[in-house]
Amino acid sequence: MDVLLLGTAAGGGFPQWNCWCPSCRTARTNPQQAHPRTQSSVAISADGARWFLLNASPDVRDQLGLLNGKAPSGVRAVPIEGVVTTDAELDHTLGIALLREGRALQLYSTAAVRRVLEEDSRILPVTQAFAQEETRDLPLDQPIPLRHRNGEPSRMTALAFAVPGDPPRFARQDLPGHTVGLVVKDTVTGGCCAFVPGCGALDAPILERLKAADLVLFDGTFFTDDEMIRLGISDRRARELGHLPISGPGGSLEQLSRLPSRHKVYTHINNSNPMLVEGSPERASVERAGLRVGDDGMRFTI
Ligand code: MLT
Ligand code: MN
Ligand code: ZN
Repeated sequence: MDVLLLGTAAGGGFPQWNCWCPSCRTARTNPQQAHPRTQSSVAISADGARWFLLNASPDVRDQLGLLNGKAPSGVRAVPIEGVVTTDAELDHTLGIALLREGRALQLYSTAAVRRVLEEDSRILPVTQAFAQEETRDLPLDQPIPLRHRNGEPSRMTALAFAVPGDPPRFARQDLPGHTVGLVVKDTVTGGCCAFVPGCGALDAPILERLKAADLVLFDGTFFTDDEMIRLGISDRRARELGHLPISGPGGSLEQLSRLPSRHKVYTHINNSNPMLVEGSPERASVERAGLRVGDDGMRFTI
């Protein structure tokens, strides 16, 4: 299975249009030292031609250029079979509506996420006015086959597991499964990828899920719990925003460094995060612990 990181920034991208924090400043003045990044999304494929998106970001149009498929013979070609969502946040779902020209796509989501897309953001009915968006249920704690649009199995399965966090602020209900992590498995190679772009805390059952993965893609939103407070751009801590910080006691770095997984990579990185700067002490501490800072275009075969 191929796993391609299409985008690795949190909502707003990097640099964020209205932000001049130290890392955004560096990304503008010296992009070699802080690579610009689009909003987080992953593409997975078992055959290198037909892809599923894990979340669909507002940058999806540019991101699809990374798939680099062969020129098709027909007039229209849709390289994506479906979108699998971890939640209904705008940075993970606006791309669904932007893919409406595809005419027919599948949307794999939990019942809780589908409800927010239907009733609150209304991204689903808006998209369905243009395209035949087939919804597929993503149950909790149970693997399901990812099927191509023609109904054939893709060889990959997806399993959703609930993670701590808050529903989007525009959601009117707080239902179980509003935010999940995904475990995607290639049933032929046995390769396994965990994708958890938003996670408020790590507990033993979640670590158990991650342990089984060859590739762990995890919430790298904030480096420190009070990052936004210290920059004077928010009065809320990372944990209050549903994102476990990387550093500090009980932070994700300490816990993920102990996992046996072959590749461990941070994604959904907020523009304020100092590890975005190449050569920074924060970057060095991540790498010393055996993890990597995700960058757009990173590719893994597992
Ligand atoms: C989040 O990651 O917490 C949400 O996407 C918030 C946002 O981008 O508005
Ligand atoms: Mn986000
Ligand atoms: Zn910034």
